[in-house]
Amino acid sequence: MGTIVIDEKYEACRKILKEEISQKRYLHSIGVSNTAACLAMRYDADVSKAALAGLLHDCAKGLNKEELVVITQENDLEISPIERSNPELLHSKAGAILAKQKYKIDDDGICSAIYWHTTGKPDMTLLEMIIFAADYIEPNRCNIPNLDRIRKTAFVDLKKTTAMICANSIEYLKRSSKEIDRITIDTYDYYNKLSVK
Ligand SMILES: [Fe+2]
Ligand SMILES: [Fe+2]
Repeated sequence: MGTIVIDEKYEACRKILKEEISQKRYLHSIGVSNTAACLAMRYDADVSKAALAGLLHDCAKGLNKEELVVITQENDLEISPIERSNPELLHSKAGAILAKQKYKIDDDGICSAIYWHTTGKPDMTLLEMIIFAADYIEPNRCNIPNLDRIRKTAFVDLKKTTAMICANSIEYLKRSSKEIDRITIDTYDYYNKLSVK
């Protein structure tokens, strides 16, 4: 028998989170948490860890740009040129720090899933892929091209799903003339090669 998902730890984190982020972001976080739990069931991952990582993945979204830069620097994490000009991207790195320090998450796998949830990276762990996908497909998401297909694929092939999400993100950034993080392209290349085999 695994541990139950909605345990005291989860509830304690949920209550703190609810006060720290907007209602809309909170509902998104609950959606990601539940979706991550479902994906974990499908892929034999730890359901409790997936639910907790999903719950906390955007826990730094309540911080302003200056606070995001400060917390990242104070914890000796690198800030890329793209992050320097778009500090909101730092909410992933800052989220991993907050998860550890404020929400007392001592599991490195959970923190790293939070750390990589925006860009993804090549060769992700199962939990990292689950959070990356759950963030994109949770029930409150809408207005995303091919969302129905991506949602179905997520329960069939997570690697292919990762490639589809990266392709969408790259396309969106190109269309809106925004800078594309190198790692998003590397993640796409890595998972696209794996899924066309
Ligand atoms: Fe996020
Ligand atoms: Fe999110």
